[in-house]
Amino acid sequence: MKTPIVFLHAFPLNGEMWQAQVDFFSKERECYHPSLPGFDGAKRDYESITFEYYVDYLITFLEKNKLSKAYWCGLSMGGYLALRLFERAPELCAGLILCDTKAGSDNNEGKLKRWQGVKTVQENREKFELDMWGALIGESSQKDLNIKTKFNSLIKNIPTNAICSGLVAMATRTDSTEMLKNISVPTLILVGDEDKVTPVSEATLMQKNIKNSKLVILEKTGHLSNLEKPNEFSKHLQNFLD
Ligand code: MLT
Repeated sequence: MKTPIVFLHAFPLNGEMWQAQVDFFSKERECYHPSLPGFDGAKRDYESITFEYYVDYLITFLEKNKLSKAYWCGLSMGGYLALRLFERAPELCAGLILCDTKAGSDNNEGKLKRWQGVKTVQENREKFELDMWGALIGESSQKDLNIKTKFNSLIKNIPTNAICSGLVAMATRTDSTEMLKNISVPTLILVGDEDKVTPVSEATLMQKNIKNSKLVILEKTGHLSNLEKPNEFSKHLQNFLD
């Protein structure tokens, strides 16, 4: 049986963002695309969410599904999670696919921006969604109405309190840069050439520090590469898995 894939979603979306890849790969192997607590729309108590809380949740998810090993494919926040999961439980990882992400944590300016994000989403949800569209989608894809419809239908389902928790949690994450040299599993790094959030320079830095890694740059693609170029993305992932 082929090794399963666990897809880890970006912020502020949920596991549904991986539908095209799940459709593509589920004919040949088991695919999981969990949504983090709150991002699945279920009401929860959010009082003390930190990034480690999400990592705990995912480790429990892997155990519950009896996954002794899986490929972890994480985009942006999903990539931050994959790196930290690797640090905590490398024995559960067959390989990493790090998409539009980076190893570093938030600096002071980044942390303050998270707080701005909390205020914006609480005071003006519409503006927050528009800001996200502008930041996450590459310039070339912004003209594509199908991508706009898909993005809007995904973001609309994410509760405001889950978004606030996600922002605060990301600000509490640890830095994975030093850990990159310990990664020994095969690793694919994918990035869009128009990614403004985690640009090509971040992907190159990871590639230089991860021994067994390959870098693929998708052209005319922004931060949400799997949504913007679903087929190209899946084919690169398939080549890597093959
Ligand atoms: C994401 O796409 O998950 C976020 O842009 C990551 C972040 O805000 O650091």
